[in-house]
Amino acid sequence: MPESSNPDRFARHSGPGPRTDWVAWHEAYDSPTGSLTRRLERVRVRLDGVLRAAPSAPTVLSLCAGDGRDLLGAELARRPRRAVLVELDPDLASRAAEAAAPHDWAEVRCADATDVVAFADVVPVDVLMLCGVLGNVDPDDVEHIARRCAGLVKPGGVVIWTRGGGDPDLRPDARAAFVAAGYEELAFDGSDDVFGVGVSWLVEPAPAPRPGDTLFEFVR
Ligand SMILES: C[S@@+](CC[C@H](N)C(=O)[O-])C[C@H]1O[C@@H](n2cnc3c(N)ncnc32)[C@H](O)[C@@H]1O
Repeated sequence: MPESSNPDRFARHSGPGPRTDWVAWHEAYDSPTGSLTRRLERVRVRLDGVLRAAPSAPTVLSLCAGDGRDLLGAELARRPRRAVLVELDPDLASRAAEAAAPHDWAEVRCADATDVVAFADVVPVDVLMLCGVLGNVDPDDVEHIARRCAGLVKPGGVVIWTRGGGDPDLRPDARAAFVAAGYEELAFDGSDDVFGVGVSWLVEPAPAPRPGDTLFEFVR
């Protein structure tokens, strides 16, 4: 069985049962009109806007970056000073590294993004991307995650995050969680669709997580 179709390859993640095949998950991007593609478009537009608005060329950290297409495939009017993408799956990290190769500002790390040790040399950053993360964690943990991740962001920096709709629709909870964790919402896209893309500005500085602290935990 090829590694990319083996559901047990995430067995080191906590909890019992098979894990999502994230390579297969990316195939939904092949649909030009699918919700993931619509979400991607909004993430890219928001990222471009954030980079344009930054006072100086920003640093970017993308956690659980997948194949990195939101950052590396975006048409950016202004490139980041430095961008680090962290992805655990070796196939996806390798695709991201290929996409990053033409950009001297981008670096891909095949590593566990739940521990700051994988990117301690980069933080705090101006822009943190948490796309495709919050729908895979315990919904009750989102506020804690937003709080912990605040320690990865410079005061005045932003988090671009996503949360899918569904039944129940927990996008309002995610938006409220960021506000409760010390951010101000700059934008939210997708209310009239099935996805959500939030841009949250860090108002209240937070202590940096220590190596070994768990930032988040995937439950699927
Ligand atoms: C829903 S996908 C999102 C991918 C990408 N950010 C996007 O929005 O297209 C979740 C990604 O998280 C990755 N992932 C899961 N656990 C991880 C971990 N502990 N560290 C780094 N990446 C992880 C998966 O391999 C997968 O690529």
